[in-house]
Amino acid sequence: MSADLSNIFSEELQSATDLNGLSQLRVKYLGKKGIITAELKALSALAAEERKAAGKRVNDLKSSVEAALDFKEASLKSDSLRSKLLSESIDISLPGKSSGFGRQHPLSRIMSEITDIFVRMGFSIEEGPEVELDRYNFELLNIPKDHPARDMQDTFYVSDEILLRTHTSPVQVRVMQRQKPPLRFIAPGRVYRCDADITHSPMFHQVEGLMVDKDITFSNLKAVLRTFVHQMFGADTAVRFRPSFFPFTEPSVEIDIGCFLCGQAGCRVCKSTGWLEVLGAGMVNPAVLENVGYDPDEYSGFAFGMGIERIAMLKYAIDDIRLFFDNDIKFLKQF
Ligand code: PHE
Repeated sequence: MSADLSNIFSEELQSATDLNGLSQLRVKYLGKKGIITAELKALSALAAEERKAAGKRVNDLKSSVEAALDFKEASLKSDSLRSKLLSESIDISLPGKSSGFGRQHPLSRIMSEITDIFVRMGFSIEEGPEVELDRYNFELLNIPKDHPARDMQDTFYVSDEILLRTHTSPVQVRVMQRQKPPLRFIAPGRVYRCDADITHSPMFHQVEGLMVDKDITFSNLKAVLRTFVHQMFGADTAVRFRPSFFPFTEPSVEIDIGCFLCGQAGCRVCKSTGWLEVLGAGMVNPAVLENVGYDPDEYSGFAFGMGIERIAMLKYAIDDIRLFFDNDIKFLKQF
């Protein structure tokens, strides 16, 4: 009978293909009401002489059933682990997920190229407020309230005395008021004018520069700005200093560079002149030095200012200033 039982168990064990079936089988044979448990209980009804041999048989059967169940359980578990590992394996030959690199905005790039050049020439960097007093933006720069030069810059007024700065020149005044010469700094930043078309934006960027000390002459202005142009646009670039007017500099100049787009032959960008205007500059007007409490007989200096968008447009041959502010990735990716 036990031999039969052993065979039946073997068949049932074979057909148990998962852990759930296996545990049902274990209950069926070894559980409280299991077949083998019942046989063990039945031993007590046997006569003493039969009980010994029968007991050994049932106990042997019980051990071999337990061992077979344990073995199968272990092998089912390792099978399922193996298939789990296989299904979860990582294919390291798949291409990675790229997070994509960002890049500098073309204006930021031009801005840092410009600041790098001046920092190498010993200029430090200063900042000033974008919401500015009329006093700093105009009056102390020798542009009184009724002066026609105010028409050169269409201004956003916040109130009679407060405005959005129209240029970075007020930083000249602020720094001179709190420091004594020698001074040598640039002041990059945003400026605002009530003006909008393909070459004008109501907000744009300038870099101001100022150098004040004893014995600063127009030669120093020419040397510094020529060096700047050659580093920014290439050592072969032609430079021209053309007389101009700014109330805060005297004499004043406009600095043109030879048009690098047409090799000075004349094109649409240089309006057939062969020259591109890139900077305003001049010797600091003695009236401005007096306004900040410097003695114009002791100190002199030069100042300059340039528009970043304009330089970027020239350098990258961009014909619409609004492209800088549209945040169109296809445009920005090109630089
Ligand atoms: N502030 C002038 C402008 O915005 C530029 C300039 C700066 C000219 C310094 C001379 C000296 O047009």
